[in-house]
Amino acid sequence: MAVGIFDSGLGGLTVLDAVQRRLPDVPFVYLGDNANAPYGVRDAQDVYDLTTAATQRLFDAGCDLVVLACNTASAAALRRMQEGWVPPGKRVLGVFVPLIEALTERRWGDNSPPREVAVKHVALFATPATVRSRAFQRELAFRAIGVDVEAQACGGVVDAIEDGDLILAEALVRGHVDALLRKMPEPKAAILGCTHYPLLQDVFQTALGPGVQVYSQADLVAESLADYLNRHPGLIGPGRESGYLTTGNPGRVSDKATQFLRRRIEFVAA
Ligand code: DGL
Repeated sequence: MAVGIFDSGLGGLTVLDAVQRRLPDVPFVYLGDNANAPYGVRDAQDVYDLTTAATQRLFDAGCDLVVLACNTASAAALRRMQEGWVPPGKRVLGVFVPLIEALTERRWGDNSPPREVAVKHVALFATPATVRSRAFQRELAFRAIGVDVEAQACGGVVDAIEDGDLILAEALVRGHVDALLRKMPEPKAAILGCTHYPLLQDVFQTALGPGVQVYSQADLVAESLADYLNRHPGLIGPGRESGYLTTGNPGRVSDKATQFLRRRIEFVAA
């Protein structure tokens, strides 16, 4: 009963890498729905249908706990899944809340009323579906007051990364940062609200300048998962099998994953 990590494609590997480093004794099963990526241009029903199918596949692989390492799925499907789909004894978590807890200087799981925080101007970079859902702004409003968020829908970036075209991805990121800075010239913090984007974190940081603190999710999710498993140790079973599943072409996905994580990763068909 390993812990499941799900993404539409390769982006969740940034989270997987961090959780494996933080929790080296926990077996993880990764599932990338590469055949259906990107999710960020799909409507909410489509994202819900794909995300529930992928999560069920991870339950079938022996996971009791699945982390949606995909902001688009977390934004468009998680709440609905938790309210009516997740079977008894299973849990599904997203990647939004740990990031917002860090931004709003809260301890994991602190649900006290919203309060003033130091960071007042926040740039959010995410997929079109995540931006459209306004889920990030909603979660932030539960925890902080007076924070101005300017969101930039970064069309094309996930496709370019999934295709391995990093030159195009970098050019698109620079264009999206420019567009954001025209709307909000002096952000204090920037959120990389898509798990693919940490693969281009340096490009974001350079384009934004040294005065902007860039928050990316991987380490924050790893820390909050460690805390969660500490509180719910029963959700990791005795199973020792880690693995990498993809709905795409395993050879092609393995090569790209190996290139991104700089260690050999072998995917098999989901
Ligand atoms: N990594 C996914 C996310 O965090 C990418 C979504 C997509 O496939 O467009 O949003």
